[in-house]
Amino acid sequence: MTGRMRIKQILAQGRGGEEYAVSGWVRSVRAGKGVAFIVLNDGSCLGGIQIVVDSLLPSFPQIVRLGTGSSLAVAGTLVESPATGQRFELAAASVTIYQDAALDYPLQKKRHSFEYLRTIAHLRPRTNTFGALFRVRSFLAQAIHQFFAERDFLCVHTPIITANDCEGAGELFRVTTLDLAAPPRIKGEVDFSADFFSRSTGLTVSGQLEGELFALAFSDIYTFGPTFRAENSNTSRHAAEFWMIEPEMAFADLAADAALAEEFFRYLCRRVLDECGEDMEFFNSHMDTGLIQRIRKVADSTFQVMEYGEAIVQLRRAKVPFVYPVAWGVDLQTEHERYLTEQVADGPLFVINYPREIKAFYMRGNDDGRTVAAMDLLVPKVGEIIGGSQREERSDLLRQRMAEMGISEEGLWWYLDSRRWGSCPHAGFGLGFERLIMYLTGMENIRDVIPFPRTPRHAEF
Ligand code: 4AD
Ligand code: MG
Repeated sequence: MTGRMRIKQILAQGRGGEEYAVSGWVRSVRAGKGVAFIVLNDGSCLGGIQIVVDSLLPSFPQIVRLGTGSSLAVAGTLVESPATGQRFELAAASVTIYQDAALDYPLQKKRHSFEYLRTIAHLRPRTNTFGALFRVRSFLAQAIHQFFAERDFLCVHTPIITANDCEGAGELFRVTTLDLAAPPRIKGEVDFSADFFSRSTGLTVSGQLEGELFALAFSDIYTFGPTFRAENSNTSRHAAEFWMIEPEMAFADLAADAALAEEFFRYLCRRVLDECGEDMEFFNSHMDTGLIQRIRKVADSTFQVMEYGEAIVQLRRAKVPFVYPVAWGVDLQTEHERYLTEQVADGPLFVINYPREIKAFYMRGNDDGRTVAAMDLLVPKVGEIIGGSQREERSDLLRQRMAEMGISEEGLWWYLDSRRWGSCPHAGFGLGFERLIMYLTGMENIRDVIPFPRTPRHAEF
C-alpha cells in the first residue's frame, strides 16, 4: 500500500514508463483477447484509470469475473493507451483483490434516479453525480474559510446546544435527558430545572446572536456550522439539518452587509469555475446546460437591489397567477422570489427593507417606522439563498421590539448586555450552504446536496 497515488494525480501528472500503485473500486470490467480492462475509481476525480490485466497474471480468472464495486490495489507501469478515451493506462504487474463485490451490489447500471439513490445514501457517494457533488461541496467549504481568512475575519465556533431561538419561529429541536415517559412536573408543566442544563434547551437555529457578541470584540467574524430547524415543510429547499455561513461585522450598515454578501457570492462562483472544472463540466452537461454560462455571468455582474415595496409593485403587476396573493406586508413565497429574480432581474437580486412584522426581533428599525433594515439575496432557480440585516443596536428600541413581540428579556439578558457597553452599528447575514451548492451545481433537491439528509420522517442513515 505504500507509494499509493491518487488516480487524479496520475492522470494529471503521470509519466509513461514509470511505475505506479493505485487503489480503488471497480467501475467496470471488460474482457478482451488475452487481456481484461478494468476502470478503477478512487473518488479523487470523476474519471477512473484504465487498468490492463494480462491473462498471464495468476489471478486473471478471478479478475475477469470481478463485480462492479470490488475493491482492489494495483501496481504496474503507466503506458500510452492505444485506444481512444484515455491517454494512459496502467499495465498491471500485480492486482490485490480486497473484496470481490457480489452481483447484488445496487450500483450496477449507469443511471439511477435520484429518488432511488436517496434510499441507498450509504452507497451513492460512489456514483459519478454524487462523487462530483461531494468534491464540489468539500471544495466550497474550504473556499469559504479562505474567503474570510483573506479578509481577516475571526472564525468563531458558536454553540450547537442553546437555550435561545434566534429566529423566534419556534422551530427548536429539544435537547433533553429527561425521562420522556415520566418527566418531572410542577403544576402539570414539565420541570426543566431538573433537566441536564437546568433549563429547557434545543439545537441552534442560527449562530447569529452569539456571533454578534464576538463581532463586538473582534470587529469581523464568521461562523460556519450546522443549524437545525424543526419546520415541517417538506420542500425541495428545506432540510431539518443544514449548514450555514454567518458573517457579522461591527461598524457596518445594511449597504456594507450587502456589499460583503455580493463579494462573497461572486468569489465562490469564480473559485468553483476556476478550480472544479471537470466536475462543473459534468453538471453542465448532465443537470443544466446553461449552468456554467449562468455562473460565469454572475461572477462578473453587479447585483441589483430592490426595495420590498417596489418588489410588491412588480409582483402585483405580474401577469402570472401566483398561488399566494400579494399585498404590502406579506412575506415573499418561493414563487414570488423566483419571479423577481428570474423574470424581473434576470440574475441575483437583493430585496431590502422588509416590513417589520414579518422579520425577526433583532433587525434594525428604519426611520419610516414600518420597515426594518433587512436584506434577502434571491437567485434564479433557488429563490432566497441569503438572509441578513443590520441589527438593532439601540438598547431601548430593541427592548421595545422584544416586548411587542412577546420575547422575554430574561433568557436574552446577555444579548441585551451587548447593547449596554460599547454598542455600535453592526450587520451580518446567513448563507445557506446547501442552497449555495444547489445553485452552483444545478441539483434541484436539497436532499441531493448533503451527505445524509434530515427531513420530516427521514433520518435513517
Ligand atoms: O433567513 P434565515 O432564517 O436567517 C438567519 O438565520 C439569520 N440569523 C442569518 C444572519 O443574519 N446571521 O436563514 C439564512 C439562510 C437562508 O437564506 C437559506 O439560504 C438558509 O439559511 N436556510 C435553509 N436552508 C436549508 N433548509 C432550511 N430549512 C433553511 N432555512 C434557512
Ligand atoms: Mg430568511
